Amino acid sequence: MEAAVRVVETVAEMRKVAGSAARPLGLVPTMGAVHEGHMALVRRARSENAGVVASLFVNPAQFGPSEDYADYPRDRDADLSRFEAGGVDVAFVPSVGEVYPDGFSSYVDVGPVAGRLEGELRPGHFRGVATVVCKLLAIVRPDRAYFGQKDAQQGAVVKRLNADLDLGAEIVVVSTVRDTDGLALSSRNVNLSGTERERAAVLYRSLCLARELWEGGVTDAEEVRRRMRSMIGDESGTQVDYVSVAHAETLEELETIAPPALVSVAVRFDRTRLIDNVFLD
Ligand code: PAJ
Repeated sequence: MEAAVRVVETVAEMRKVAGSAARPLGLVPTMGAVHEGHMALVRRARSENAGVVASLFVNPAQFGPSEDYADYPRDRDADLSRFEAGGVDVAFVPSVGEVYPDGFSSYVDVGPVAGRLEGELRPGHFRGVATVVCKLLAIVRPDRAYFGQKDAQQGAVVKRLNADLDLGAEIVVVSTVRDTDGLALSSRNVNLSGTERERAAVLYRSLCLARELWEGGVTDAEEVRRRMRSMIGDESGTQVDYVSVAHAETLEELETIAPPALVSVAVRFDRTRLIDNVFLD
């Protein structure tokens, strides 16, 4: 039997518990609907720290008005059991009112790296992410915080935020966990129909194509984008939001590919929007 996970619902109690927690302390922020991608972060945190806090909070500030905040999958009991099985010591599960009490009005704007790609298509998204991550780091004060490579731009934004505001955590980025056909695990995959789920493997296939082209000597970034768009477009029911070949830290689009580069895609299948990426290094 695993030790029971301690559930903390208030900022005051979380601060107190974290203040006397075993160090080093690792933090794994999540919005729940916990899957093996999240669990890879939990396992990594467990293996590197004496204490592990995982948060479960669907953050309204990072959803646009026409996005899926209300429909975002929520299953608190299942999530807590998974955290417990992964050896999480404390689950921080605050309410919206606890994180954003009456009168709340301070938001974090990370600058250009948050304005491209996802930031361009989802205005305000990274302002919401940066604000909540800043608050979580301020409340828990972990030695390390864990994020997934699946959301590579989020990782770049969080690193910038952590460095610029001297938040003092080590930001650890964990490799993307994929299904057998290559589709990156995501809480939103449950919204795909059967055929959409089959077609969704094209995201990873297009990323593998980019890697093959680059390894084969292609350095023209636009050629890689064009070939990827064409592969995704050949799969019916897909709408491409972007195909990007960019500098891995600034996310500025490249003309000539040189490492560290990040190839990323965002594709819509009817109601479901998926993102994925690979590094070229
Ligand atoms: P969420 O989508 O729940 O993801 C929580 C963490 O799990 C993120 O760091 C994400 O990159 C990572 N993750 C998701 N799928 C993954 C996969 N297939 N492989 C590896 N890691 C994966 O991202 C968020 O929540 C929020 O924006 C949050 C950071 C919690 C702030 O609200």
